[in-house]
Amino acid sequence: MSDNAQHIADAQAPAVEALRISKSFGGVHALEQASFSAGFGEVHALVGENGAGKSTMIKILGGRLRADAGELRIKGTTATLRSPLEAHAFGLRTVFQELTLLPGMSVSENLLLNHEPRGGLGLIDRRATDRKADALLAELGIHHIDPRALIEDISLAARQVVEIVRAISQDPDILLLDEPTSSLVEREAQWLFGHMRRLRDAGKCVIFTSHRWAEIIGVCTRISIFRNGRDVGSFDSIDEDEAITLMTGRRIDAYFPTPAAHTPAAPQLETRALTGRVLRDVSLTVAPGEIVGVGGLAGQGHRELFFTLFGADKATSGEILIGGATKTIHNPRDAIRAGMALVPEDRKSEGLLLPMAVRDNLTLAILPRIAHLGVLPLGLERQLTSRIVDALKVRTPDVRNAVGNLSGGNQQKVLIGRWLLAEPSVFLLYDVTRGVDVATKREIYDLILRLAAENRAVLFYSSDAEELAHLSHRVLVMREGAIVAQLHNPGLNAEDVVSAAMKVALVS
Ligand SMILES: Nc1ncnc2c1ncn2[C@@H]1O[C@H](COP(=O)(O)OP(=O)(O)O)[C@@H](O)[C@H]1O
Ligand SMILES: [Mg+2]
Repeated sequence: MSDNAQHIADAQAPAVEALRISKSFGGVHALEQASFSAGFGEVHALVGENGAGKSTMIKILGGRLRADAGELRIKGTTATLRSPLEAHAFGLRTVFQELTLLPGMSVSENLLLNHEPRGGLGLIDRRATDRKADALLAELGIHHIDPRALIEDISLAARQVVEIVRAISQDPDILLLDEPTSSLVEREAQWLFGHMRRLRDAGKCVIFTSHRWAEIIGVCTRISIFRNGRDVGSFDSIDEDEAITLMTGRRIDAYFPTPAAHTPAAPQLETRALTGRVLRDVSLTVAPGEIVGVGGLAGQGHRELFFTLFGADKATSGEILIGGATKTIHNPRDAIRAGMALVPEDRKSEGLLLPMAVRDNLTLAILPRIAHLGVLPLGLERQLTSRIVDALKVRTPDVRNAVGNLSGGNQQKVLIGRWLLAEPSVFLLYDVTRGVDVATKREIYDLILRLAAENRAVLFYSSDAEELAHLSHRVLVMREGAIVAQLHNPGLNAEDVVSAAMKVALVS
């Protein structure tokens, strides 16, 4: 079949059919025989909790990832997409969750990449490029973005808008948008919804993912719900409570240990009206032996809270107290000295030095304390690291192996273990089980409970509502940088956490 034949659409066929699509990353089943289909003249929402497999599905449809198994049909034709470019041949454009613009290039160069107007010598005509981009932006109703500005100099929201403009301006038959509103303000979101409706009315197919119930209901004509890598149903209409039940329904493989009741005590960690770029008046306490969960929709300031506590982000006002004493925390070194440890989600860029040996990664946090002249006595180092490796069941044949060769879950254990050696009184755990296989997740849960049993204060953010509900003594729900709800165990379940986060979102 020639490429041209692919353009001949079967008028009766759905725009996109995903049939029993599976995709694994190591031991993590991101999609397991997930199916859904979307037609022309439809705005179709893919809905599910964090980790449900929405982005993986969008990447497969958009040609960014290959499925391990299953079939993809576009306009009735079986499609094997090896790249986003091959998806373009089907009239399909994608705005991925992670932005793909080139930061060192201008807005107009990004908008017209590979379609730049050229001058007599075949060289790119910059002025014409800017003019064309100007016209493009204006045509789509965008007047606040300068096409000459470098991507790296414009706001995250503006970049998201540029990414959307680029996709829409190429006149797709099928438009995929992964969490397109997560960094947009209300006005820009409304702008986008206007274009989604326009495309729908023009008989195109729009597929998008979102966490925000109000916007899902406001713009979509059909909803497919995903849970734990599987589709659990498609609906023309469904109410929020029913959708939440389907999104969070008990997983077969879920296992959560129950934390021991903790005795009320003076807080080990306390913040008073902590305020910053994103944070607004955050006051919280965590007692020794207490596990306090932090939840809410993505991007509501959780990350800023954790990074501010650890001195990696700046507070403009407010106080941080450890063991009842106010601490001045300007950088991570101050935080470590005050007795805090941070385990971030992004192991690759922030936590571990992947090429370094397991052993060196483990002793990094305590080197300044126990090493004389910066060198750790070899005997002591060996003794300390094998203790951690044994205690945490880190699966590595040798502590001298590079951490980068371990599985994600084992890397995470190395990170936590590294901190144990420093004996912090406060553990800040930031989405530590994301992307970790089920068996290792259980070991990390046990480890979290053990930290509390050893009387440390644990502040624990997770994108998984079920984890929060089961492992925390209390859950704080954040919205727009502020704590807006507090939920108490015993008796909490994932529905309570998700609905607190979504209901709060509806009110505003
Ligand atoms: N590149 C990757 N490597 C390892 N795990 C991944 C990768 N991409 C996704 N995952 C895992 O697959 C699952 C589904 O992720 P994702 O599709 O991003 O979900 P969603 O978009 O619904 O939040 C999650 O457990 C996630 O951690
Ligand atoms: Mg996603």
